[in-house]
Amino acid sequence: MEANSGEPKIELGLEGVYISKSSICKVDGVNGKLYYRGYPIEALAKNSSFEETCYLLLNGHLPTLDQFEEFNSKLKAERELPEFIVDMIRELVNKADTMDVARCAISALSAYDKEAYDDSDDANLRKSIKLIAKTASIVATIGRLMMGKEPLKPDISLNHSANFMYMLNGEKPNADKSKMLDLMLILHAEHSSNASTFSTMVTGSTLADMYAAVTSGIGTLKGPLHGGADQAALKMMKNIGNPDNTEKYIEEALAGKKRIMGFGHRVYKTYDPRAKIIKAELLEIQGNSVGDVKNYTTIALRAEKMMIEKLGNTKGIWPNVDFFSGPVYTYIGIPMELFTPLFAVSRMPGWCAHMMEYWQNNRLLRPLEYYVGNIDLEYTPIRYRK
Ligand code: CMC
Repeated sequence: MEANSGEPKIELGLEGVYISKSSICKVDGVNGKLYYRGYPIEALAKNSSFEETCYLLLNGHLPTLDQFEEFNSKLKAERELPEFIVDMIRELVNKADTMDVARCAISALSAYDKEAYDDSDDANLRKSIKLIAKTASIVATIGRLMMGKEPLKPDISLNHSANFMYMLNGEKPNADKSKMLDLMLILHAEHSSNASTFSTMVTGSTLADMYAAVTSGIGTLKGPLHGGADQAALKMMKNIGNPDNTEKYIEEALAGKKRIMGFGHRVYKTYDPRAKIIKAELLEIQGNSVGDVKNYTTIALRAEKMMIEKLGNTKGIWPNVDFFSGPVYTYIGIPMELFTPLFAVSRMPGWCAHMMEYWQNNRLLRPLEYYVGNIDLEYTPIRYRK
């Protein structure tokens, strides 16, 4: 029995569908440009810090020195984790995927926030600051416990990225590496209505609180078509093993209709500007790296060349932000299991900024499904069913 007639146009994957107006981020997929609050990503990458980028995303403008210092001290003051959250991570780590541990721990933060269900703008800004600060501590603590080491308290003399590395490795990081991590955090901080931001907004649009909303975002970020692609791309480089196997591996993968993780994008049909910046870092690393990092770097550059020849100009499939990040994170000293949780550390300001903006003019996000099943079936009691 046919349920409906007159099929509506279905935009598979919601491709090309606008859900709201926003002044947070512009992704220009044709020209390969990205802007946070109007500032080109290249300018922020060169001149800004993750903390300043967070301020920009959350407040809509760059801070004055006084505003920056106040914001930065609030972020630092929020780094410490409630003991229960550390115990919870201890219990879950090495049993569940690191993204699942991060999702549970970040979600549980609501229990320690008296303002969790206060939906005023001021409280939401304070929650954003808490979430940005504590997510970094949670992910570093996951890494620390995963390696069988005791968690460390934050060091407020360090900036956000250096403190993350200190809480992970137990020593103050090399300035170049912490600067590189800071750059990676800036590049991942925001990206318009990507899948995880959209799911954050769907949850927030029901007027659930900020913690519930970003927990949805973290669940969505995990998948290999989205944030999980960074881990998947490095796994591929590990599988390739010897750089001389790169071309054969890619050839066979494409012949077998496999996706090469870290390539392709729904919006960019040209080189992702973030990937260009990360590639420049990779080229810097290449000269002075050894062992795994040298191998990954060489494999990544050879794979990139081949993919561009095969799919770049013909199908618009170019490297995205996730392709070169694995070798860079490995160089910095971050284990692969933390790549995607680290993506959540950097995307937190983007999720929070979108939520605060959307709540200014909230409407429940509720799309339609075109029903193609049966209707008016006759109900048969179970005892008569065959
Ligand atoms: N390798 C090989 N072929 C690809 C790839 C890839 N990475 N990406 C897309 N294609 C092909 C796909 O097979 C399809 O081919 P055909 O038309 O012959 O069937 C065509 O390109 C269109 O693919 P699609 O899945 O309809 O495109 P989409 O816009 O829905 O997908 C994507 C976007 C990111 C999911 C996809 O490019 C992909 O799966 N990439 C690999 C995963 C990845 O790197 N994700 C990170 C995205 S950027 C960071 C982030 O936001 O998280």
